[in-house]
Amino acid sequence: MSQEPVQAGAGIAEQRLPRHVAIIMDGNGRWAKRRMLPRYMGHREGVKAVRRAVEYCRKRNIEVLTLFAFSSENWRRPESEVGLLMELFVRTLRKEVARLHKNGVCMRFIGDRSAFDPKLQSLMDSAEAQTAGNTGMTLAIAVNYGGRWDIADAARRLAMQVARGELEPQDIDSERLGQELSITDLPEPDLFIRTGGEQRISNFLLWQLAYTELYFTDLLWPDFNADAFDEALRSFAGRQRRFGQTGDQVEAGRA
Ligand code: FPP
Repeated sequence: MSQEPVQAGAGIAEQRLPRHVAIIMDGNGRWAKRRMLPRYMGHREGVKAVRRAVEYCRKRNIEVLTLFAFSSENWRRPESEVGLLMELFVRTLRKEVARLHKNGVCMRFIGDRSAFDPKLQSLMDSAEAQTAGNTGMTLAIAVNYGGRWDIADAARRLAMQVARGELEPQDIDSERLGQELSITDLPEPDLFIRTGGEQRISNFLLWQLAYTELYFTDLLWPDFNADAFDEALRSFAGRQRRFGQTGDQVEAGRA
């Protein structure tokens, strides 16, 4: 397997950078438990790590950061934890959107937001509207999101177009279906990071991760800092992305 070596001592700035990083932020509960704190405190600390990750990406000119904040399966958590998470989302949006806007961040929410409290939905809508024209970077936050939901939703929309006579079934291919998915207008994720030690995709961007480099770390999300992000980027820079080609073809294309 031929791999591009990461030069010893090479700074991140000289390395090949991902355009889009997608993260499963796992380990907030364990972070709190280790400190004999309620799980909620781990989520609060997790918000600080979100802030750091956004600042990091902005500084490194990473174009898109997608974060899995609440999966469609997270409703199965104890009602009290779900309630506290919802409060945290509301409070975080109220507190952070102005600062994100000032820093040129365009915010997007992906997932079925219709299940959320109208107050939270309207905060999401107004954050998107306020930051829509920003070009510094895109922060996509997945809420009540599931990769299977995303694909099923896209299929449903195509079926509606067929039913209305706007689309022929034989014109449906992976490119056409891909156009109906969330964040289809953004570059596909180059690098997926999951903290917290589990090595799973857990129904995150199933379609969009087809060719994404996967990176897993045992660090708990509240402990994920700039050094840890540097390490993930170094790992990414050392990989050869082949997109189905041979290593020799990729090398020849680069020469
Ligand atoms: C997973 O850790 C974390 C979550 C389900 C919630 C993540 C949410 C935040 C960090 C807040 C982000 C807020 C915004 C507005 C972006 P876990 O509870 O599964 O941890 P465990 O595996 O240790 O139990």
